[in-house]
Amino acid sequence: MKRRVGEIVRKQVFLLWWFGMTVQFCFLLGASLSYDTTSFSRRELKGINTSKPRPSISAVKLNTEDHGHVVIENGIVQITLSSPEGYILGISYDGIDNVLESRNEEQDRGYFDVVWNKPGNSSTFQRIHGTEFSVVSLDENQVEISFVRTWTPSLEGSNVPINIDQRYVLRRGDSGFYSYTIFERPEGFPAVEVDQIRNVFKLQEERFVYMAISDTRQRYMPTMKDRETGQPLAYPEAVLLTNPSNENFRGEVDDKYQYSCENKDNKVHGWISVDAEAPVGFWVITPSNEFRNAGPIKQDLTSHVGPFALSMFVSTHYAGKEVTMEFQEGETYRKVFGPIFVYLNSVSSSENPLTLWTDATQQMSKEVKSWPYDFPRSQAYIPPTQRGSVAGRLLVQDWYIRGGRFLYADSAYVGLALPGAAGSWQRESKGYQFWTQANKKGYFVINNVVPGEYNLFAWVPGFIGDYRYNATITISPGSVVQLDSLVYNPPRSGSTVWEIGIPDRSAAEFYIPDPYPTLMNKLYNEQPKDKYRQYGLWEHYADLYPNNDLVYTVGVSSYDQDWFYAHVTRSTGNTTYQATTWQIRFNLPYGPFKGNYTLQLALAAAANSDLKIWINGQGNAPALFETGKFGGDSAIARHGIHGLYWLFSIDVPSDVLMKGNNTIYLQQSFAISPFQGVMYDYIRLERPPTLRT
Ligand SMILES: *[C@@H]1O[C@H](CO)[C@@H](O)[C@H](O)[C@H]1NC(C)=O
Ligand SMILES: *[C@@H]1O[C@H](CO)[C@@H](O)[C@H](O)[C@H]1NC(C)=O
Ligand SMILES: *[C@@H]1O[C@H](CO)[C@@H](O)[C@H](O)[C@H]1NC(C)=O
Ligand SMILES: *[C@@H]1O[C@H](CO)[C@@H](O)[C@H](O)[C@H]1NC(C)=O
Ligand SMILES: *[C@@H]1O[C@H](CO)[C@@H](O)[C@H](O)[C@H]1NC(C)=O
Repeated sequence: MKRRVGEIVRKQVFLLWWFGMTVQFCFLLGASLSYDTTSFSRRELKGINTSKPRPSISAVKLNTEDHGHVVIENGIVQITLSSPEGYILGISYDGIDNVLESRNEEQDRGYFDVVWNKPGNSSTFQRIHGTEFSVVSLDENQVEISFVRTWTPSLEGSNVPINIDQRYVLRRGDSGFYSYTIFERPEGFPAVEVDQIRNVFKLQEERFVYMAISDTRQRYMPTMKDRETGQPLAYPEAVLLTNPSNENFRGEVDDKYQYSCENKDNKVHGWISVDAEAPVGFWVITPSNEFRNAGPIKQDLTSHVGPFALSMFVSTHYAGKEVTMEFQEGETYRKVFGPIFVYLNSVSSSENPLTLWTDATQQMSKEVKSWPYDFPRSQAYIPPTQRGSVAGRLLVQDWYIRGGRFLYADSAYVGLALPGAAGSWQRESKGYQFWTQANKKGYFVINNVVPGEYNLFAWVPGFIGDYRYNATITISPGSVVQLDSLVYNPPRSGSTVWEIGIPDRSAAEFYIPDPYPTLMNKLYNEQPKDKYRQYGLWEHYADLYPNNDLVYTVGVSSYDQDWFYAHVTRSTGNTTYQATTWQIRFNLPYGPFKGNYTLQLALAAAANSDLKIWINGQGNAPALFETGKFGGDSAIARHGIHGLYWLFSIDVPSDVLMKGNNTIYLQQSFAISPFQGVMYDYIRLERPPTLRT
């Protein structure tokens, strides 16, 4: 099926009334990326070995004779699961009896869990265990097994009201196994909110000491014991290592959130056993981002001290409860999470164990290239032949840039997500999302789309706001939707008076202080671009501005030096905090033009904040603009350089401005904790309109 859809583009602006004032509140689109298999820029691997010779490729076997256990094996790996629960009890590989931590309880080695709540209740953590085991398919080339937990009204309150089917697939010749999970809500199930869905693997503590999550983010890790003997910092996840088993770690901070990454980049991570006899790697490979929530730049956990390796499908991390999966009473649902590939590799004792990472990235590339897989047997899983694609080109038109000539949407993030307003994808957690990044000229192709109804969303680095194509896009099996050139008109009212920062949904370009020498993660001392992942940077605000808040003078200050990366509270030293008010000073050499100026205020994060703005005078005057209480992304505490994206287009009547010096006051007025505040992405003052657009 081939379709041509005309071009219709409009600004997406939602007007809200806050505290009786008119405020343009634009939910800007965010967008994210997807997997462009040609764009991996992995380092050339030098001298990477091949793995040890493997035993001859034997047939896949299933053994259910031992009551309460299911064993699947292929001569390379052997996986033992509890039956009918489906907990992974053991993974045996390359002479290692169990790469998982056998000292843990049976349900605490390899498992699947959900964090959920009834609307209005606080959330609870639940390990999901099957009540019914079955063999889906078995031949000498592949076995697929299933552990189903069916919800019934008798489970109301104690069990998440979703039928959950956990599948494991082992294929002949594979050095690892696939895992995927099907969620299903038939009619009649009660309402529920789901905050988190993940797989957890807890590895043998003595063996797995080296963690790798990217080419540059990898290191020897402290142990769980090191954390227990350490000193918890401002929240329990962050621990100062005061008594580590390895002296090198003394004085370092460990925090699992320092190892987060954006979902688009979260394709392979895991651990290496540097054991002299048998170096082995354990890797979680996620070949597609389609089943994760909230789009490509949502951040999430990877691996962390334990040694643990996670496969995060859904979470509220770096976003907050506003991205929860919310099901109404009776709402039906079906979605497949995964498959992911759990990959094991090894080298001989004479080789460098760290090359296992390189091999894991090569395996990841292979998995990405073979996505979507054609072997899962669930009817709910959509095979490659049943998927469709969308292609087109995105241009940008801004009447105040080059006279409104079309610009290429260079490297734009373009994606399909469930229908909704522009930018709604960043809070969308229930459907599949399919993202790609356009090339320099704005051309994009989105492949492997599951049939359904979508909106096409985009955002373009260098421009504010969110694009949404104004028509529903229907993907049917095998369909190819070819769109004409689409045009994005980013929010813009008049020419630029001044601007601060780069519109890219991140605060990374602003001033990021060096960490306290007593609170470092040494890994990031070597990686300037990861400096924001250091613990405690928010506290430097009070060091830099002990009495008077930040003042930024347009034309004099530079944003990379003079604009602190987060607008935080100021600690007054005894667990009390003060609201802080930043100033932007600028000069209008002529009297203001008639009409409204526009302050384009793009935020990269917000946590439990209330942002108020005055111009030329504060005191008791009512604020010109106030967000009201907003944000819950915890990006400051979690060392993210962004959380959710917000755009406010604020009218500034010319009579509040004057010839000569003007001052904009930005106050974050909630001040109970050190982690409250916002991160700015970009701020622009625009003159009143001079063009009819
Ligand atoms: C979207 O298209 C519909 C008709 O297809 C039209 O009525 C509506 O005004 C359009 N909205 C925007 C924002 O362009
Ligand atoms: C200017 O902004 C004010 C306050 O938002 C609004 O009431 C007014 O209609 C705007 N005027 C114009 C000409 O846009
Ligand atoms: C959930 O809310 C119900 C009332 O709706 C209450 O009876 C119950 O105790 C709550 N459960 C928890 C775990 O908070
Ligand atoms: C503690 O905080 C209160 C409230 O901000 C302040 O008045 C007081 O001076 C502080 N005490 C010390 C010892 O810093
Ligand atoms: C305006 O601001 C500039 C830069 O901060 C300052 O040097 C100058 O003295 C100010 N002028 C007046 C009239 O306050």
